[in-house]
Order: sequence, then structure tokens, then C-alpha cells
Amino acid sequence: MKTTTIYKDDVRSWVMFGRDPNKANNVIDTNQYLITHRDRGMLVDPGGSEIFPSYLTALSNTISMEDLESIFASHQDPDIVSSLALWLGIKPELEFFAPSIWEGFIAHFGAGRAAIPIPDEGMIIPLNGSSDLFAVPSHYVHSSGQYGLYDERAKIFFSGDSGAALLPPSHGDIFVSNFDEHIQYMEGFHKRWMPSNRAKNNWVKRVRELDIDIMAPQHGALFRGDDVQRFLDWFEALEVGIAA
Ligand SMILES: [Fe+2]
Ligand SMILES: [Fe+2]
Repeated sequence: MKTTTIYKDDVRSWVMFGRDPNKANNVIDTNQYLITHRDRGMLVDPGGSEIFPSYLTALSNTISMEDLESIFASHQDPDIVSSLALWLGIKPELEFFAPSIWEGFIAHFGAGRAAIPIPDEGMIIPLNGSSDLFAVPSHYVHSSGQYGLYDERAKIFFSGDSGAALLPPSHGDIFVSNFDEHIQYMEGFHKRWMPSNRAKNNWVKRVRELDIDIMAPQHGALFRGDDVQRFLDWFEALEVGIAA
């Protein structure tokens, strides 16, 4: 699994893990993120049980399990957090944050204890004493209980399945380099897995208020600079909730 540092300053870092060339083709490719604050880490959408062994190996080269503090689950999907019990098996004291409405469902992934529920209006997600990471409500944009994660310091917005692209295996770029060309990998996904135009447009309005340098989705390439606005314009104009 490929490890890419996408942000680093004196107290905060973001590392992306993904694009595993050894992953089975029938398993959807996912981006896993590690945020550290003063050397303590949080896994943002740790992924499915299928990729757990390769993620654990890659992660162990970046941070020691001792320094891992928490897990953030943006929503309930298996590609987001079906590995939960495996992580807690390694480190039972890990805190995990999950949407309040999905708590009882995520419990079926075998955590064996309760999550810290994220209320509908969102909350500050603390990491080693920080107070500048925010769970941003994204309900019905994809899942009925879902959050993005905004890092005010790094100006990074983790957007979950919004901005997701299904890239061919040969496409290894971490960042979008040609937005117009990238549309073909996003369009079908957004039309089918986003159910509500109203929720989507509210989300676009909310995200436009954030100061974002990098928008990091859970699948596919990341958007930076002007491509963040290009994505928001494209998404706003797209009609979603369409099954052919
Ligand atoms: Fe999802
Ligand atoms: Fe996903």
C-alpha cells in the first residue's frame, strides 16, 4: 500500500494510504488517512477488513500503535469501518467516533463497546488536545448520517464519498491533474450513490464557506487549489439520485 504525506507542519500532519497494487480487483479501492497532532494519531475511515493487513503494515512504518489515539468513522459503510473490531483487537483503548444514528448498526462490526456518538449537528473531534478538527454534517449527500472532517489548521477537508472517483488500476496519481478528464471517473458514482439534490446543494453551500486547500475523498484522487472550486461547481450542477 502506497504511503503519501499530503500535509505537514510543526504540530499537524496528514498521511494518505491507498493504491495498493496487491489489492484484489473486486474490492473497491479506498483512501485511508492518518492525522497526527503533536505525534498522536487518529485514523480517518480506517477501511474494510479486506485491506486491514496491508494497511496495518503500511501504518506501522509511520506511527507506533502506542501513539494511535482514535478512529473517526464518517458513516456506516463496510469500506469505511468494517475493520473496526480488528483495530480494537490490537488496541482496545482506541476511542472511536461514529455518527449517532449509525451507532447500533456499526456495533454489528463487532467493536464490543459503544462509540463516541457524533450528533446530527456535528462536533469538534479532539485529537491530543486539539480543537480545530470539525465533523461537518453531510447527511443524505450519500449516507443518511454522515460527516466530512474539516481541519482548520491544515485547510484540508476530508469529504468522504463526495468527490469520490473510481479510477482504473493504471491511474496512480494522488492529485487530480486534469479536472475535465477526471469527471468520467466521478460522474456515475455521484449520480447513483448520492440520493438527494437538495441535501447535495445544501452541502455544497456549507462547504463553500470553508477555507480549503485540499479536498480529500475516500476514493480516488485528491483535489487541490482551484480544483476544489471546480469540483463544487460541477457537483452543484449535477443531477443526482439517478438509477438508470
Ligand atoms: Fe459510502
Ligand atoms: Fe466509500
